[in-house]
Amino acid sequence: MKDTFYITTPIYYPSDKLHIGHTYCTVATDAIARYKRLKGYDVMFLTGTDEHGQKIEEKAKAVNKTPKQFVDDIVEGINGEGGILQLWKLMNISNDRFVRTTDDYHVESVQKIFRKMYENGDIYKGAYKGLYCTPCESFWTESQLVDGKCPDCGRDVKYAEEEAYFFRLSKYADRVRDLLVNTDFLEPRSRVNEMVKNFIDPGLEDLCVSRTSFTWGIPVDFDPGHVVYVWVDALSNYITAMGYDNDRYNDYDKYWPADVHIVGKEIVRFHSIIWPAMLMSLELPLPKKVFGHGWLLLDGGKMSKSKGNVVDPYVLAERYGVDSLRYFLLREFPFGSDGSFSNELLITRINTDLANDFGNLVSRSVAMIGKYYGGKLPVFDDCNTEVFDSELIELVSGLRDRYEEKMEAFALQPAFAEVFKVISRANKYIDETQPWILAKDEANKNRLAQVLYNLIETIRICASLLQPVIPDSAVKALGQIGAVEGNWDWDKLNVWGVLAKDTAVNKGEVLFPRIDMAKELELLDNLNKQPAEPESDPVLPDVTIDQFAACDLRICKVLACEKVAKSDKLLKFSLDDGSGTPRQILSGIAKYYKPEELVGKTVVAILNLPARKMMGLESNGMLISAEKGDKLNLLMLDDSIPAGARIC
Ligand code: ME8
Ligand code: MG
Repeated sequence: MKDTFYITTPIYYPSDKLHIGHTYCTVATDAIARYKRLKGYDVMFLTGTDEHGQKIEEKAKAVNKTPKQFVDDIVEGINGEGGILQLWKLMNISNDRFVRTTDDYHVESVQKIFRKMYENGDIYKGAYKGLYCTPCESFWTESQLVDGKCPDCGRDVKYAEEEAYFFRLSKYADRVRDLLVNTDFLEPRSRVNEMVKNFIDPGLEDLCVSRTSFTWGIPVDFDPGHVVYVWVDALSNYITAMGYDNDRYNDYDKYWPADVHIVGKEIVRFHSIIWPAMLMSLELPLPKKVFGHGWLLLDGGKMSKSKGNVVDPYVLAERYGVDSLRYFLLREFPFGSDGSFSNELLITRINTDLANDFGNLVSRSVAMIGKYYGGKLPVFDDCNTEVFDSELIELVSGLRDRYEEKMEAFALQPAFAEVFKVISRANKYIDETQPWILAKDEANKNRLAQVLYNLIETIRICASLLQPVIPDSAVKALGQIGAVEGNWDWDKLNVWGVLAKDTAVNKGEVLFPRIDMAKELELLDNLNKQPAEPESDPVLPDVTIDQFAACDLRICKVLACEKVAKSDKLLKFSLDDGSGTPRQILSGIAKYYKPEELVGKTVVAILNLPARKMMGLESNGMLISAEKGDKLNLLMLDDSIPAGARIC
């Protein structure tokens, strides 16, 4: 029986279209899964979607869909296009299974998991009071905030209080700490220090694991007003999708514990602290490893739709090919650290490595065998007599093991770099041997055959080891050099001389056409300038009519208005609010209005905000305006309505 290897990606939030950052994580996981299959493992590669939670409920509401319809459209696409499933198919992702947290079997298992943790005393009822970040679905303590904002996404948090169930995370603090510090459970090692310093050592608090303020989640079956916290729901996917506590699948015993969970650095906390503690509570074996990869950055920031700088994998894959994009992602950036994406880097990498080095090596070698031998090498006598012959052969023969050592450590970039060192060496070998000179003299025919054979043997091993990253092109290259099934078995990849001497090659299409950088960059730039799809801003959670009425919104007349010295943004208003005493309000709208054009206008202000100082000046309230993108309009009414009139 084959050894098993169970590998997972995080399950994606279907809250927006996926961008190249998500693609990065899945392509990397796919490459590792393919590598293990190449080595002969029985691989289980799981990915899926994480479909519950308040964020999704709010987004669905904003576009007038039910949450299920909303997630279906993003996961399955609309008319079978543009969904997550189609994206993974396009990117040639070889997942063996796809879990959706809305699948019945998952829902059923999560309810049982929650109940088990409750019954063994690890979940208890309490009240949650804290600061909540809705987009991240995370509660934070005051001390975890950065500048008063969510430490993960930098957005506002809000105070939330509700009856809730809690998981005794604190009980497992010592065991989790031991796991992180004294084993190589979490890699890269730098992530261990982050976890211990930021989360464990300050004291692990019990975790709020149910919510009552929204309904789009898995109901707690013994207390149906509560839905299971989305992270408890999501993390469980790694076992429910193997059939833990459900009849849908039967692979739990075969594959669990997972060999590795590949996750982005911002969710390492959930995978290396909460997930092991949950498993400890359930008395289940722990996964063997969590690997936290870095982010793909754009303009120095994390890619996300909300920052408006997404790079669409559909566009890039269509323009440059799926394999080129896959290769770029894994070869350009070290997997464990952050990397900065740019179109220029992408095109440079494709042109140099794939078009020039690899593509050329294959096409030149095949073309020469075509030209000098009609496409089939003769059986020749061995004559590897030159020093560069043995240099090449030695380098190629050791490649598999050097590559393996790096792949085993998830050092994808160095592993593929090893292959390309050999490819460069082989191109140099062509210059050294000068086959076109050998071909001029009939007496060199035997030597020429040996040289060309050395080239296709090199290509056999390199292309085989590139299968995990460029699966289609590698197979095409192997086909072009006449390799057949069996020639790329793992145990043939550290052996020289596997191809038959009289191998017949097959001239094929150009594997990686060269890209015209200047033309392409201009084109991409134009694509970027096209107006982005308007993004809908979700409706905020309900407020009561009393909360609304408590906002003192009034009609004001602008008595005077001037720029605030040394500020590009602020205008200082003196307003008639109907009270008889002028009111001073500062407003950051100097970019949009000239002060003189506002004098005499009828505007709206909220009066009962606490006074604030800006640039040393006091502001007593705030003017109301509408803002979207780079447009701003101060709310103005006609003059007929008197100052001091209330808005309700
Ligand atoms: O976190 N660079 O889902 P998600 C690299 N549902 N990786 C990136 C990235 C970027 N710019 N942007 C996102 C979730 N990712 C949860 C997971 S698992 C039980 C639940 C990665 O859709 C991110 O780090 O927000 C994460 O690993 C994955 O994409 C999914 O992110
Ligand atoms: Mg996330």
